[in-house]
Amino acid sequence: MNSAELIAEAQAIAPWIVALRRRIHRRPELMYQEHETSRLVRDTLDELGIAYRSPIARTGVLATLGRGDAACIALRADMDALPIQEQSVLDFASEIEGRMHACGHDCHTAMLLGAARLLKAREAELRGPIKLLFQPAEEGGAGGKRMCDEGALQDPPVARIFGLHVWPLAPSGSLSGRAGPFLAAASSVEITIRGQGGHAAMPHLNRDPVLTASKLVVELQSLVAREMDPLVPAVVSITTMQGGEAFNVIPEQVRLTGTLRALSLDTLQGLQARLRDMAGHVAAANRCEAIVEFPGIDYPPTVNDAECWALARALGAELLGGEDRVIDSPPIMGGEDFAFYTDRIPGCFVGLGTYNPALGATHSVHHPCFRVDETILPLGSALHVAFAMASQSQVPA
Ligand code: NI
Repeated sequence: MNSAELIAEAQAIAPWIVALRRRIHRRPELMYQEHETSRLVRDTLDELGIAYRSPIARTGVLATLGRGDAACIALRADMDALPIQEQSVLDFASEIEGRMHACGHDCHTAMLLGAARLLKAREAELRGPIKLLFQPAEEGGAGGKRMCDEGALQDPPVARIFGLHVWPLAPSGSLSGRAGPFLAAASSVEITIRGQGGHAAMPHLNRDPVLTASKLVVELQSLVAREMDPLVPAVVSITTMQGGEAFNVIPEQVRLTGTLRALSLDTLQGLQARLRDMAGHVAAANRCEAIVEFPGIDYPPTVNDAECWALARALGAELLGGEDRVIDSPPIMGGEDFAFYTDRIPGCFVGLGTYNPALGATHSVHHPCFRVDETILPLGSALHVAFAMASQSQVPA
């Protein structure tokens, strides 16, 4: 595989990749509702003559190309958007009220379609099968887990998987990653503090859930500050607090929600257990009751296989213009459902830098002004192809 040729081929189809990205960007769809996006993926694969299985994981698409005895390698993109109102003057801004591709999954899908086109043109060179996973519901819906549960990594068994994420933390066209835990294990939490409501002028006749919830929010910060080894990363963030309607009424209950993060599932589960304890005790001390739930599916940490990262790192330097284009990143406490794949098989998740002040691409993901430097899209497609083809030469079948 010649890197310069691969980059040239990717650059030649850049307008096609950008057009796909903009079509997806205009029509953002939330988790498990990616019907139009899934249709666009399937239509594009049809045009390219690439076979696929669909539906998988409700709105997902699993394409396969290449044949031979070499190990099967998988490449993954996510397709869902976020419930955010986009603030943009671009002519391809979201056309759907309150929905936005604010995490770049439109780019991920377009880059993987770009890789599909490049791989199709090189199909004769492939030494084994390559699977392309277009998955739904990364943003809290555990779509990756569902893809695994429905057999995306089997038949033929996948030896390695790679995923790319647009990375506004790093300069445009750079590659960030690391071996070992890269992104955090994550759990959401919901706490209901039940008291007894009544007239605010007679607190002695009531049991006040507002004061109790306030104490709990403060107290929970000691879980990380006083109970965790300072050298072990963990986060407890209480992010919403709801209760009460009137200034002169003590409400019956207050509801808190938030998120817990750690770099291992053990640490995460330890935090959950201590949070449950503490909520119960703080509530009891204040004559209230705490109901604690951890809704949804906990995300494991995204752990990069050392060999896969070494390969991605080397190919990143080769394709992106040298060693200084690759960044050895510290772990990040964001969660990512690519973790469900790396929990099962070796793999590597990397960030493709997209920070470019000249283009206004400076905001973080999940921000209403989030913008991407589209010149990275063909680079992402080329990286996907390189990861897959180099892995087939490296991994024993
Ligand atoms: Ni994302």
